[in-house]
Amino acid sequence: MYSEKVMDHFQNPRNVGELENPSGVGTVGNAKCGDIMRIYLDVDENQIIRDVKFKTFGCGAAVATSSMATELVKGKSIYEALQVTNKAVMDALDGLPPVKVHCSLLAEEAIHAALWDYAEKHQMEIPGLEKPVSDISEHEDEEDY
Ligand code: FES
Repeated sequence: MYSEKVMDHFQNPRNVGELENPSGVGTVGNAKCGDIMRIYLDVDENQIIRDVKFKTFGCGAAVATSSMATELVKGKSIYEALQVTNKAVMDALDGLPPVKVHCSLLAEEAIHAALWDYAEKHQMEIPGLEKPVSDISEHEDEEDY
């Protein structure tokens, strides 16, 4: 039911932990399942994501998608990181079962929330970045999976 990549990232998640003095932190949850994810970004002076860590209190798919999402944004600019959608994360994991697709939204939203926090701290705007929600289940019905 799960791809080998999902199982690998679930059993050996990359970039687990937190960062001291992060450039941006984003926390999102899904009230329907109770899962919570937090992403920490360390962004350098050239707006490149130098380091990223995550903590996920959630299901295996949420752990695997956060792990893959952190791998995909590491080394990227804050603008490129915005292109890391839940679909990109799922593709990189060779897919998720349909009932677990919503779990991948947590990773995308947590990255957006961390980028938003970074932008606010630097009094800048990242084009295309919308104000994140803290509970993604509020928007689930509108999401086009
Ligand atoms: Fe909630 Fe997976 S069941 S994130």
